Order: sequence, then structure tokens, then C-alpha cells
Amino acid sequence: MQRTYIKDLKEKIGEEVIIKGWVNVRRDQGKMVFVDMRDMTGLVQCVVLPKSEAIEVAKEIRTEWVLSIKGKVNERPEKNKNDKVQNGDIEIEILNIEILNKAEVLPFEISSDTKDINEDTRLKYRYLDLRSERMQKNIRARGKLIKYVRDFMDSEGFVEVETPILTKSTPEGSRDYVVPSRLYHGKFYALPQSPQQYKQLLMTAGMEKYFQIARCMRDEDSRGDRQPEFTQMDLEMSFVEREDVMDINERCLIGLIQKLYPEKKIQQIPFPRLSFAEAMEKYGSDKPDLREDKNDQNLLAFCWVIDFPFFEKTDEGGWTFTHNPFSRPKPEFMEDLMKKENIEKILTTQYDIALNGMEIGGGSIRNHEPEALQKVFEIMGHETEKIKENFGHMLSAFSLGTPPHGGIAWGIDRLVMILQNEPNIREVIPFAKTGEGKDPMMESPTTITETQLRELHIKIRDTNPK
Ligand code: AMO
Repeated sequence: MQRTYIKDLKEKIGEEVIIKGWVNVRRDQGKMVFVDMRDMTGLVQCVVLPKSEAIEVAKEIRTEWVLSIKGKVNERPEKNKNDKVQNGDIEIEILNIEILNKAEVLPFEISSDTKDINEDTRLKYRYLDLRSERMQKNIRARGKLIKYVRDFMDSEGFVEVETPILTKSTPEGSRDYVVPSRLYHGKFYALPQSPQQYKQLLMTAGMEKYFQIARCMRDEDSRGDRQPEFTQMDLEMSFVEREDVMDINERCLIGLIQKLYPEKKIQQIPFPRLSFAEAMEKYGSDKPDLREDKNDQNLLAFCWVIDFPFFEKTDEGGWTFTHNPFSRPKPEFMEDLMKKENIEKILTTQYDIALNGMEIGGGSIRNHEPEALQKVFEIMGHETEKIKENFGHMLSAFSLGTPPHGGIAWGIDRLVMILQNEPNIREVIPFAKTGEGKDPMMESPTTITETQLRELHIKIRDTNPK
């Protein structure tokens, strides 16, 4: 007999079925034993009647055991019906129980919300935490959101391209995670902080419309909205202006909210736009929270922030980029960039997107002319030789037929967090790291063996005092 999913039991009243899943709750009432069973589709109450052959096994089973149950789907007597719960009008009369896996007493309860459980414990037993209803919903909602984005991008003619994980340091402002090379002594790969350079090179490669659900790694201190490893919806397009990129993102976000979160209301469509100067002056933030009612969980206030300054002063008195060295200045500031004049006044084509006071994405039109990109690095005080060494591949590509292009990346974790009404991104990342960047389940990071170190030509100078 084929397995029936719990959500489909209603259609099988009067029939014999097999269900498989976990024991959510078990109540021994002496003569009868009640077992609430759970699978990925829901819950159902099952009962072992006094004379049933299954009564012995039923007395032995405990919560979270994995069972295969053969039983008959019965309509409950009118007085026992409960329309507040799933399958409240039916019950399974158990005929046979097969134990598929036993479970010791769990380190914490998963039948109620795990929010108040110590987070290190939740992360150590993440596979149990994920069994809880709220975490199941979060992870499934995340999957649905990603699927929506993929379908949308596909329907707009975008192609998903995977870019390397073993790559080279990029100047994106954070510290890189590095991977030692065994074959080349003393040399290291870096894990990508974002696919920025690759996606631009894909424009040189003639892909024209690229996107990727991309994993990014940044060695920075974790916070509620930051993880060392996170996911971007990364996108790049050729022959476009700022408006084109903003338009496609706005349509995708609106569509996904209308389809997946119909209970939510977008405060203003089209999304309002503020200049950086205006945002700072009016709200003191470059990711302002424009919600008219901050108590309403279902209100979504998106806004674009534009016209950011390109450069800012470093502590040493030089210049650095505010967002992305590959951005293009707004057209009216191109001359200043080429002459390296009025540097503090140059505005970039950068656009950030904020939602309810959180930065959920950012991008820009890029500097696709090699001479102009070269000027950016010169303003930041890079030596010609260094520019060649670090960005030679970009300058070379830009001298070999690169179309004008621009793009954006969203922080998927932050978006899902807001849509799921969660307070931090760890609640929507299946296997998150702690605030201290540890994985208590796998116990990473860990030391490696002396043999591994030797193979990599690495000697540890001193051990981490932590
Ligand atoms: P940026 O660095 O702004 O842009 O990143 C894009 C978005 O990614 C999210 N984000 C993070 N989410 C969780 N944890 C982190 N540590 C983290 N860091 C960033 C934010 C942010 O808005 N290559 C450019 C994009 C482009 O120009 O196309 C980039 O990476 O929501």
C-alpha cells in the first residue's frame, strides 16, 4: 500500500491507509492510546483501541519516534469534532504500528515555538530545531521565495550562471575568507564576498541578462542582520540605464509579495525614491523606515535611496569608495572623475533599496570604460602596477568589447526575515552560525591535523586565545 500524506487523509474517509512520520504527542489513557502523528504536510490524531493488536507497541512508543502506521480513516463522532485544528473532523484507528526509528528524550521541546530556547543549543541540534513548526514554515517560505525569483527571472529572459567559490580577493570593503593552495606554496584563494567581478565579466561574455542565487562570504563580525555566509539574489544586465534595473527589481518584489504574502500591504507603489542627502537630512539614515504604522507587521515600506557620494575620506586623508569601485558616476560627474576634480562632489549611479528600515539590496550602473575605471583607482591612490595586478583582468575585458551594464544584489536572508516577521536572519537560515561565527553542530571552525597543515605548507604562529 502506498503512503498517504497527512494533508490528503480527508479524501480517504472509510479507507485503510499507511501514514509515515513522527510522534508529535502521545497520550496513554490506560485502555486507549492516542498518538498525534506529524509529517511534512501536517498533523492527525490517531487512536489505538483497547482490543487492537497494536496496543502493546503503542504503550512503548514515545514522542519523536518515527513510525509507519497502518490504519483506518474514520470520521469523528460529532461531539469530538474540532474545527480549530487540521484534520479535526477525522481520526485514524490504528491497526498496525511499525517502528522505523526510536528517539531518546530530546534536548528541548520542539512541539512549541523554540524561540525562547538557548540559541547555542538550538544551533547545536539545528536538525531538531528545524522540525519545529515555525522553523519549518520559515525554511519552506524561503524555498518558495527563491523559486518565485527563479521563475520570474527566467520569464524575463535571464539566465542563471554559477560563478566560482574559489576566487581572488575582491576590493569590496570586507575581510576575505581565504583558502590555502596546496599546489602553490604560500598562495591563497579567497571565497567570494559577492560575484561582482564575475557578473561584470559575464556581460563582456555576451550573456546580457544574468542572475544567480549566490552564496557570499565576508569575514566580518556577525550581527542580527549579518552572517559570515549569506545569500544574494545577484543580477546584472547589459545595455541598461538605472531605470531599467530599478524597474525589473520593483516588478519582481511586488509580484512575489502579491503571490506569496497576500496578507501584506505595500505602502507605496511605485516605491518612493530619496536622495542620500534627503534621507540623511529627514531621517538621519540611508535606509530610512518609512512605515506610517510601525506596529503593523503586514505593512511593507520599500524605498530606493539614490545619488550617493562616490568617494569618502579615509582616516589617513586619502579617498575610498562608499559602495563599489566598479560603479559609474552619474553622467554629469563623468568629467570631474576624468579630471580627478571636485572628488567629494561626485555622485554615483548607486541605488540602494531599503525595506522597513533595513538595507535589503544595492547596485549600480558600472564604469565600463577602462580609462574611467583606471581613474577611480588612481583617486584611491593605487599605484599603476598595483592596479594592473589587482584589476588587470577587468581593464583588459573592458578593452575587448564590453557593453554598458549595471545590476544589483538583494540580501535574500534579510528579505525573508522581514517577510516572515522574524527578528534576525538566523531564524531563516537553515544552518546558521552563532553571533561569534561558530557552528556548534559541526563544531567549526576546528583545528586541522599536522599532516594537513604540512601539505598546505602552513605553520600556526600562535593559537587563537578564544
Ligand atoms: P552589497 O555589499 O550591498 O552589494 O550586498 C548586497 C546586499 O546583501 C546583503 N548583505 C548581507 N546579508 C547578510 N549578511 C551579510 N554579512 C551581508 N552583507 C550584505 C544586504 C545588501 O544590501 N556586489 C554588490 C551588489 C551590486 O552592486 O550589484 C554587493 O555585494 O542586504
